[in-house]
Amino acid sequence: MTFVVTENCIKCKYMDCVEVCPVDCFYAGENMLVIHPDECIDCGVCEPECPALAIFADTDENASADWLELNAKYSKVWPNILLKGQPPDDAEKWDGAADKTAAFSPNPHQD
Ligand code: SF4
Ligand code: F3S
Repeated sequence: MTFVVTENCIKCKYMDCVEVCPVDCFYAGENMLVIHPDECIDCGVCEPECPALAIFADTDENASADWLELNAKYSKVWPNILLKGQPPDDAEKWDGAADKTAAFSPNPHQD
């Protein structure tokens, strides 16, 4: 089992999750984060910390196989993130927006 970052993280990218993960298994893209499924120890601590409610256990129906696959794929190529940075200025506007998958960026996080 692992926890999975899902659609509502896109363009919200609040990053509260990285501050609480005991094994530092979050990886950062340009506009969302993912969890490395082989590194996550299933502690569940990050799930209630996400203001966008974007993190689910892989057993939850909100964490589809597609999202698990995306987390596994991009956690291998994006940089590890250990500290919360500045969320996007318009994060609140995107929280809960429809069809955010179209806005997903495959590019890595830039400092
Ligand atoms: Fe990290 Fe625990 Fe969240 Fe897994 S469930 S990503 S180990 S905080
Ligand atoms: Fe994304 Fe929520 Fe973390 S919006 S960056 S999963 S706190």
